[in-house]
Amino acid sequence: MHDPTRLTATRRFLAPFRGEPLTPPPVWLMRQAGRYLPEYRATRKEAGSFLDLCYNPRLAAEVTLQPIRRYGFDAAILFSDILVVPDALGQGVRFAEGEGPRLDPITDVAGLTRLDLGKAESKFEIVWETVSLLRQSLPAETALIGFCGAPWTVATYMVEGRGSSDQSAARGWAYRDPDGFKRLIDTLVAASITYLDGQVRAGAGVLQIFDSWAGSLAEDEFDRWVVAPTKQIVSEMKSRHPHVPVIGFPRGASAKLMEFAAATGIDGVSCDTSCPLNVMQEVAGRGIVAQGNLDPLLLVAGGAALDRRVDEIVAGMTGKPFVFNLGHGIVPETPPEHVARLVERVRAAKGRA
Ligand code: CP3
Repeated sequence: MHDPTRLTATRRFLAPFRGEPLTPPPVWLMRQAGRYLPEYRATRKEAGSFLDLCYNPRLAAEVTLQPIRRYGFDAAILFSDILVVPDALGQGVRFAEGEGPRLDPITDVAGLTRLDLGKAESKFEIVWETVSLLRQSLPAETALIGFCGAPWTVATYMVEGRGSSDQSAARGWAYRDPDGFKRLIDTLVAASITYLDGQVRAGAGVLQIFDSWAGSLAEDEFDRWVVAPTKQIVSEMKSRHPHVPVIGFPRGASAKLMEFAAATGIDGVSCDTSCPLNVMQEVAGRGIVAQGNLDPLLLVAGGAALDRRVDEIVAGMTGKPFVFNLGHGIVPETPPEHVARLVERVRAAKGRA
């Protein structure tokens, strides 16, 4: 089995999580493996559908490694998807070409009988095998990030049956029948714990919980459906794997970041594009690692404006626990040479005199 203590001292990525800010900061990018890379598009073709790629350990490991070979990021993120969890639970997920995910919606408690946590492990095991292949193939200095979707965000897809702009189906159920909706969230908390635990046992050294739709909830609902389930997952991971940092990504919730960080016990917060630099500084000032938050569209535009903003973020976070990232995932239109320019620029950062 993977020995988590071996070599971790050599991974720069982990330094900010031990309270040691680095200049230049560690850097990786959300969706760093993906359609903007020609080699990804070739492997994706070889695999067939998107989910076939997620469930093929050899090819999923290959696409995870592609951006590491090109850019030498400080961390690799497991190639998979947050919707593997509902798929493994038995809901069945399809990715319609060019249209995004499709699920047969679960809209009330009666629909929960379709979910079976006992059956999920056989699909989780395929992903755990990818993690284990990756830990064997990655350079020793590269951290490996495992992940899951946060229960709230995964639930929005399960209830809506697809992506939506306002998550109204899930928010509606949560208001109409909070106890019934909580059963769905509880199932996702349990599945996420099993899933993440297996990823750590297979070799993931860091975890990230993606809550892409955290920003659509009112105050009490944010506490109930974002903070509480995340806290449960974090505390369970902390008791099983105290050495593994956990990063949260409550997208759209900048105004609640401090509360989120304090209440969940998370080690790092990934900040979205709209999060002001002073909020990131405040988070990092409390010893929580701030990660972010360049606009993915500025990475598409490139040029002097990209350089300026990279410098501004890096300078603003110098001396604080910080990981450079985007505020959301890389978009397919991104020129690969702009990514090279970004990494070079971040790595040219000098410490304060
Ligand atoms: O970051 C990485 O490189 C690791 C892999 C990863 C993917 N999705 C690969 C992917 C991760 C961490 C995710 C997370 C994910 N998936 C989120 C949370 C982060 C976010 O973006 O807000 C969400 C909401 C999903 C669900 C999902 N997956 C959607 C809505 C879509 C369709 C939209 C799109 O970009 O096509 C996906 C597909 C998906 N997931 C792709 C990739 C590379 C594109 C699929 C393809 O190759 O056709």
